Amino acid sequence: MDKTYYVTTPIYYVNASPHIGHAYTTILADVLARYHKSSGYRTFFMTGTDEHGDKIAEAAQRAGVDPKAYADGISAQFRALWPELKVDHDYFIRTTDENHVRVVQMILQRVYDAGDIYFGHYEGYYCVGCERFYMEKELVDGLCPDHQCEPEHRKESNYFFRMSKYQDWLIEHIEKNPSFIRPERYRNEALAFLRGPLEDLCISRPKSRLTWGITLPFDEDYVTYVWFDALINYITGIGYPDGENFRTFWPVAEHLIAKDILKPHGIYWPTMLKAAGIEPYRHLNVHGYWNVDQSKMSKSLGNVIKPLDLKDKYGLDAFRYFLLRDMVFGLDSSFSEEGFVQRVNADLANDLGNLISRVMAMAIKYFDGRVPSPGAPAEEDREFSASARRALREVEACFRELALHKALIAIWEFVNGTNKYIVTSEPWNLAKDPGLQDRLATVIYNLLEALRCIAVFIAPFMPGTAEKVLSHLGITDAAKEDLSTLEEWGGLPPGNVLQKIPALFPRIEYKKEDAMEAQAKAAPAFKPEITYEDFDKIDLRIARVLEAEPVPKSSKLLKLKIDLGEDRVIVAGMGKDYKPEEIVGKTIVVVANLKPTKLMGVESRGMLLATDAADGLALITADRPPLTGAKVR
Ligand code: MSP
Repeated sequence: MDKTYYVTTPIYYVNASPHIGHAYTTILADVLARYHKSSGYRTFFMTGTDEHGDKIAEAAQRAGVDPKAYADGISAQFRALWPELKVDHDYFIRTTDENHVRVVQMILQRVYDAGDIYFGHYEGYYCVGCERFYMEKELVDGLCPDHQCEPEHRKESNYFFRMSKYQDWLIEHIEKNPSFIRPERYRNEALAFLRGPLEDLCISRPKSRLTWGITLPFDEDYVTYVWFDALINYITGIGYPDGENFRTFWPVAEHLIAKDILKPHGIYWPTMLKAAGIEPYRHLNVHGYWNVDQSKMSKSLGNVIKPLDLKDKYGLDAFRYFLLRDMVFGLDSSFSEEGFVQRVNADLANDLGNLISRVMAMAIKYFDGRVPSPGAPAEEDREFSASARRALREVEACFRELALHKALIAIWEFVNGTNKYIVTSEPWNLAKDPGLQDRLATVIYNLLEALRCIAVFIAPFMPGTAEKVLSHLGITDAAKEDLSTLEEWGGLPPGNVLQKIPALFPRIEYKKEDAMEAQAKAAPAFKPEITYEDFDKIDLRIARVLEAEPVPKSSKLLKLKIDLGEDRVIVAGMGKDYKPEEIVGKTIVVVANLKPTKLMGVESRGMLLATDAADGLALITADRPPLTGAKVR
């Protein structure tokens, strides 16, 4: 039977531009697809955009355009980004595609006819950020655990999917197929969730509330709820119900997601498939979150990392390498520019880049720009070539369990083994002795062959670098990146013409102060003009901090008691920059008429003003002792 492989990313919401998190999942999918392709698999790789629902409708309204026009704009940003990151997907799906809409309606009708969709009443807490209802017990201090905001209380009549009916089946399926959801921590999380009674899933919204969705085929007045629409993309995109691709690829479907959407993928989706009479996917592969400098990435914190910024500054392959090397699949990872530079300098500039330049320079110098013919291998040569095959076995094992950082570690062991082979065989000394030219030819051949192996190994991760190394070794055939070419030592044809290679990864000089300055320069663009009347709506006051204490369970929130003519409590995200005792007694500026909001269970009645300083956040204060409660003009 044909070896086949189908990999998907989540389809991304079109309410925000792509960032490093989206880039990670999609580049990971690309690495997996490329690896399987070069291992002889027929592959299909799909990504796309999720375009219906409240979230998008709200973002469009804020931007003052209609939802489709808004979705077109952001979807196009995603679509344009992927080729820039050398992401080579086979299909880009949009949930506004006609075919997708038609198939979603067909499945809804089928499940409805089978009696698994019914009309009922619902009351609950709805988080727009998550696009789902929460049970009271799921909220933390009354807030959405993910977005830390107060969900809306909604009361509606709606259609429900009889998910509860499939609870036992799903538990059994997960238990019988230990790798159905992986790594294990997420399988356990799904099973833990299934230990309680599974409630039916609300799958519609009345059009009176939301029109931006797919109309239910059995009730014109309702549209589907986002997940019932979005999850089905994984089969509409490959031609369900009777497309050839669906038959070929669905049985081997590998979904990639981050932990944020485990529940819809691990619980809703398999039960929906079961109800529709479709086999479940093969694996749900769940990765952790990229944080930035240890904090959650968010627009409001202004720490969103844009993939193209990194690519433009440091090069695409360095960016792809870093993402795959610095995240252990399943765990969270923290991005910092300093860490990025250290990683690139150590692994790419030092280990790999130097090796490639050194070997190419020696080979061109000693053998007049051609690959020499090797002589009979010595014991150390046999050991060296065997290490390439060992690395191959290790890489294969790592890919099977998605431990791609370990695959890179195994490849780098071979890179460093090659560096050691240079040191022990001392080609520069062999070159001095006319009687040792055969030995020199063998050593240089082995080094060039090692470069070929390394290029094949890194091709899924760093396609540009691999291509460059192979073409400079004179290898241009179509199968040049096939992993099977690593089974036998000696795939590099003697006599090939070598070309001088430019430094692939020049060392990066990184100064934290420069980065801070650049960041300050890259401050957000100025906002549109407002009138004095607009400004005057903001009541800014001088206040003095009377007491401060950390908010329990929060790493950065401080609860402050302040005096601004009256005593108030505000919550400020300054806990990483100020200890409570450092902030007590300070004079601060507060937005006094901001609508109160609850942060981690504590009501905040105002917001203090701060700005970026070289080493974190700094409070805005006055340069002469001001009057408490005075207006800031
Ligand atoms: N539209 C839904 C998914 C529907 S799939 C049928 C959605 N979209 S999303 O735009 O919010 O994308 C979520 C996904 O983006 C995560 O599951 C992950 O793949 C990626 N990431 C977003 N932020 C991330 C990090 N900070 N870190 C790592 N990946 C993250 O949910």
